[in-house]
Amino acid sequence: MMTLSEMAVDVLTTADGREKTAKSHAHAAAWRAAREAGTPIEIGSASPPLRPSRPDRPELLDPREVPKRKPGSPQGRIALLHAVAHIELNAVDLHWDIIARFTEVPFPPGFYDDWVRAADEESKHFNLMCDCLEELGSHYGALPAHAGMWRAAEDTADDLMGRLAVVPMVLEARGLDVTPGMIDLFRKAGVDSAVAALETIYAEEVGHVAYGSKWFHFLCGRHELDPRDVFHSLVRKYFHGALKPPFNDEKRAEAGLPLDFYWPLAEESGKA
Ligand SMILES: [Fe+2]
Ligand SMILES: [Fe+2]
Repeated sequence: MMTLSEMAVDVLTTADGREKTAKSHAHAAAWRAAREAGTPIEIGSASPPLRPSRPDRPELLDPREVPKRKPGSPQGRIALLHAVAHIELNAVDLHWDIIARFTEVPFPPGFYDDWVRAADEESKHFNLMCDCLEELGSHYGALPAHAGMWRAAEDTADDLMGRLAVVPMVLEARGLDVTPGMIDLFRKAGVDSAVAALETIYAEEVGHVAYGSKWFHFLCGRHELDPRDVFHSLVRKYFHGALKPPFNDEKRAEAGLPLDFYWPLAEESGKA
């Protein structure tokens, strides 16, 4: 029987996207079944790779070299779905990585329930995006993709609170801001499969941001830290981009992200 950490490393070291997500689903199902049976799988400990395995395609480029897309054209819509597929594949690895990388920090089992569920959902999201691409005559790997996607994970490989602040509470929260506009774009183009897939993604991503906020606050409580101040200093330390409005304040609130967490950071980056 594999430990949960070994399952995580198994996913991280699998390169092919469909194969990676099949393992992710299978391990998540095993974790859930064991929890429901009252015989939970051990967390164990393992050495996750600094970077997860990736397929030969897509070619990974510096974001400045990724060709700009015209969102109104069929090719632009394919490029957009391809970019989301790439984000989802990275998200699968990010959630398994947080499970395997910080096993020395004690947590109640709910911490692992949440990240296993998030990883399972990201695996579904990746496959939904691949299915949409294939329906439009393309596939994941057909276009170049963003090379910088794993940077936040490397920067926070030794800092769990930094990881929670930057990955779910900044990067995944950004997804809540931009997804409604993407859904509109595909609705106007009459691509129903992409509308349905993006609506699923949008609904489930609220949960991932909420898990981030929940466990960030949990750790702040354990160490008697002020959550807002610590969030600001960790984002300044580890996040290299700007927090850009417009923000989806309503969905962010639903996910446990108060206004005073992100607005001050947007204002100091001069974009507000
Ligand atoms: Fe996702
Ligand atoms: Fe997510």
